[in-house]
Amino acid sequence: MDLLEVEKLKTQALTDLDLVDSLTKLEEFRVKYFGKKGLVTVVTKDIVSLGADEKKALGRALNEVKSVIQGSMESKKLELEKSIPSQLPEFYKSLPGTRPEIGHLHVITQAIREIVDIFKPLGFTRVRYPEIDWEYFVFEALNIPEEHPARDEWETFFVDISRDEKYGRTVITPHTSSGQVREMLKGNLPIRMLNISRCGRRQADVRHLPTFYQFEGLVVDKGINISHLKGVLNYFVKNFYGPEREIRLRPYDFRFTEPSFEVDVLCSNCLGAGCSLCKEGWMELGGAGVVHPKVLEYGGIDSKEYSGFAFGWGVERTYMMKSGTQIDDIRHLFANDVRFLEQF
Ligand code: PHE
Repeated sequence: MDLLEVEKLKTQALTDLDLVDSLTKLEEFRVKYFGKKGLVTVVTKDIVSLGADEKKALGRALNEVKSVIQGSMESKKLELEKSIPSQLPEFYKSLPGTRPEIGHLHVITQAIREIVDIFKPLGFTRVRYPEIDWEYFVFEALNIPEEHPARDEWETFFVDISRDEKYGRTVITPHTSSGQVREMLKGNLPIRMLNISRCGRRQADVRHLPTFYQFEGLVVDKGINISHLKGVLNYFVKNFYGPEREIRLRPYDFRFTEPSFEVDVLCSNCLGAGCSLCKEGWMELGGAGVVHPKVLEYGGIDSKEYSGFAFGWGVERTYMMKSGTQIDDIRHLFANDVRFLEQF
């Protein structure tokens, strides 16, 4: 041990200290030099074992070095403490934490579950049928033959697969009514079907999406008539929207029901008074009617013995008509902006 080494120790320590940029590293530095086996500590012990003269000279030099290092450590500490806000230590006990985000079901999944729950006590069972299906189930078996102009209403996407001789072309189902004849062909009577599935149509604006969900009810039994249909629709609307929302049936024309209706419900905003949202007090839900005998025959059911009713509505549209939702553009539902979705 000589003066040179003591001097080297100082240079090394000051260089190390320069690199210290956090309180944790400063503590590491302290241990490295002044800890039990620290570099300064060890040298101090060495000097103690030297002869008197040497001890005196080196001891003084070492004490100076020690105080230089300790002084620099002190100023380093002050400097670091001042800059704490911009470089927080790894763990700050008193700082309020950020809660981990917990997701929830998509608003349309919630709506579908609510619809299923409302229909369940009436004996309806949820089923699903292909989302890509043949024209036969989508149109033909619903009494809409190939060249019939009514097909235009369904703005259908065709799939590029070669035509089947019996079932025709392949399409993305434009409505859940394609499940009606499929359900009948299962041969289990009576029927209380709730078919909820994804549909596609060539459309896109504030009220329409190219892909959306529909829920379709179908009841087939002996002695079913229009009053059963009205009762079920009324029951659903009161449960889904609330007791103040009345329904109204408007005559319409669907080829697969006769008579056919459009079902309206009192506007969520004005409850019938008329406002900018609904114009004349009512909002349109969707179609319904008494199953056409020809459709029953396509499903292998004797239309003299059995009758039925059906209804089919868009899930998104139905949900948007709940009071208080205030969704002015249907496309928000699937834009996947969390700021929008987390509200529901
Ligand atoms: N499928 C029809 C539509 O999408 C609605 C409907 C269903 C009408 C059942 C009558 C009976 O427009």
